[in-house]
Amino acid sequence: MNAIVQNDQAPVLQVTDLEIEINGGQGSFAVVSEMNLHVRAGETLCIVGESGCGKSMTALALLRLLPDAAKVASGKILIDGQDFMAMSERQVEDYRGEKIAMIFQEPLTALNPVLRIGEQIAEAVRQHRKCSRKEAYAKAVETLQLVQMPDPERRAGQFPHELSGGMRQRAMIALALACDPKIIIADEPTTALDVTIQAQILGLISTCKSVSARRKSSSPTTSASSPRSPIG
Ligand SMILES: Nc1ncnc2c1ncn2[C@@H]1O[C@H](COP(=O)(O)OP(=O)(O)OP(=O)(O)O)[C@@H](O)[C@H]1O
Ligand SMILES: [Mg+2]
Repeated sequence: MNAIVQNDQAPVLQVTDLEIEINGGQGSFAVVSEMNLHVRAGETLCIVGESGCGKSMTALALLRLLPDAAKVASGKILIDGQDFMAMSERQVEDYRGEKIAMIFQEPLTALNPVLRIGEQIAEAVRQHRKCSRKEAYAKAVETLQLVQMPDPERRAGQFPHELSGGMRQRAMIALALACDPKIIIADEPTTALDVTIQAQILGLISTCKSVSARRKSSSPTTSASSPRSPIG
């Protein structure tokens, strides 16, 4: 698989000759091979392919979240020029959420069922930012507002099962956006939703990307060349 984009900036994500192997009952076999891609700030890259061709495996490898049966057999993943595969688990935890985040397909399995939405997002914020619980919670509500969650203050106090499918997906997106990551991976973020909500969510991801790019370009402390880049 090869994805080629044209732009002169250094890529925020670069994958070179990635090979992912599954260790099955009858030995190991490659489910992804010769995967090459690069994404620069502000770009959106879509990976398409038939069911089972390895899209989700690729997405999980980019976050070092492959299931036990799978492993990266060879290849390189560079995030912001840093070798992601060579990092310690501690460094990877720092990168997840802050540099690279994922919007999962099924929010009910990805969200913590026993934690209120606002608390989950605030927890992610506190993992990466030095701030008080109150500030983190305020950032959570602000992010819920950004993803157009209706009545964000009230919804922040609810559990995932109390939200509609579309609201849960918005909460998932808010969780991914909360720490302003440079790269967002979205693995079929709308499959579980009906067609009208699918269109709204895709529009929302696109809007959030533009808002983030504008914020970063107007921030005196942040380079204009680092808006996040979703992959779908
Ligand atoms: N947890 C797992 N353990 C073992 N093999 C797996 C696991 N998850 C996926 N696979 C295998 O890895 C291969 C790639 O699967 P993957 O889920 O990446 O496909 P996909 O392109 O995302 O498909 P879809 O479009 O249906 O979501 C498939 O052959 C699948 O059977
Ligand atoms: Mg998949």
